[in-house]
Amino acid sequence: MMDNRPIGIFDSGVGGLTVYRAIKRRLPCEKMIYLGDTARIPYGTRSPSTVKRYAYQDAAFLVKQGVKLLVVACNTISSVALRLLQSSYDVPIVGVIEPGAKAAVRSTRNGRVGVIATEATVESRAYELAIKNLDAEVEVFSQACPLFVPLAEEGWLEHDATALIARHYLEPLIDAGVDTLVLGCTHYPLLRRTIQKIMGEEVMLLDSGECVAAEIGQVLKKTAEGEAAIEDDVFYVTDSGNRFRRIANLFLDNPIGRLIAVDIWEEKVQFDEGGLGLLQEAFRKG
Ligand code: DGL
Repeated sequence: MMDNRPIGIFDSGVGGLTVYRAIKRRLPCEKMIYLGDTARIPYGTRSPSTVKRYAYQDAAFLVKQGVKLLVVACNTISSVALRLLQSSYDVPIVGVIEPGAKAAVRSTRNGRVGVIATEATVESRAYELAIKNLDAEVEVFSQACPLFVPLAEEGWLEHDATALIARHYLEPLIDAGVDTLVLGCTHYPLLRRTIQKIMGEEVMLLDSGECVAAEIGQVLKKTAEGEAAIEDDVFYVTDSGNRFRRIANLFLDNPIGRLIAVDIWEEKVQFDEGGLGLLQEAFRKG
């Protein structure tokens, strides 16, 4: 039996669209609902308890829309709140850490893996623990790169300033001799070319979004081979959608259509950015 319910995917902002893109490329027939908590980004500099509170609300919004699977695109949320979410909601919930860690262990030849991520993800040691759990012999070198998120949001993907900052962050990992580097933050795949140039062509860069997409592809294989979803995907944001749309269109394969601003604290849709008459209650409390 085909399950036509959508896949829910969420992130602190626009960066999770790198994960959305990876899933869409693998599973073009799946309908998806995306939530970007653009009013509260960044999560990566916040405390675990704040990230958990925000993540709980984000997930509640999507779960109430009847998704069949929830993808936590955000590495920071996956690092500190995945277990809380999995124990709070009945729907299957997948994060990006485990698939990224598996790919890193498969990829490394010299047993030296680099992880670049937000401060919160690095402090949680989530990638390190997941990698060590799979292979205790692998050495993990982690580096927080907090300036990468605003650079990506600004669209400075191959700017001289980005290269300068990237060199500063990445030099310790080059010195450590890593042969595999996990892009452990939703935004970093956007800076991939700059990062690859600095790390050298021989270093394998792993996009955790692509890794999770491959895993979802296996789980939903049958659905993916079914009919194309009739309705378009829907994108929700918690702040004005103009910036989101502009950045999204920089890197998505197709321009985004339905973009709706929501207040997930009041738990109802406030206004419609897409001009498509979608002014409606998304769900009711309780
Ligand atoms: N989505 C976050 C992550 O993948 C990056 C942006 C943020 O700090 O909220 O860790």
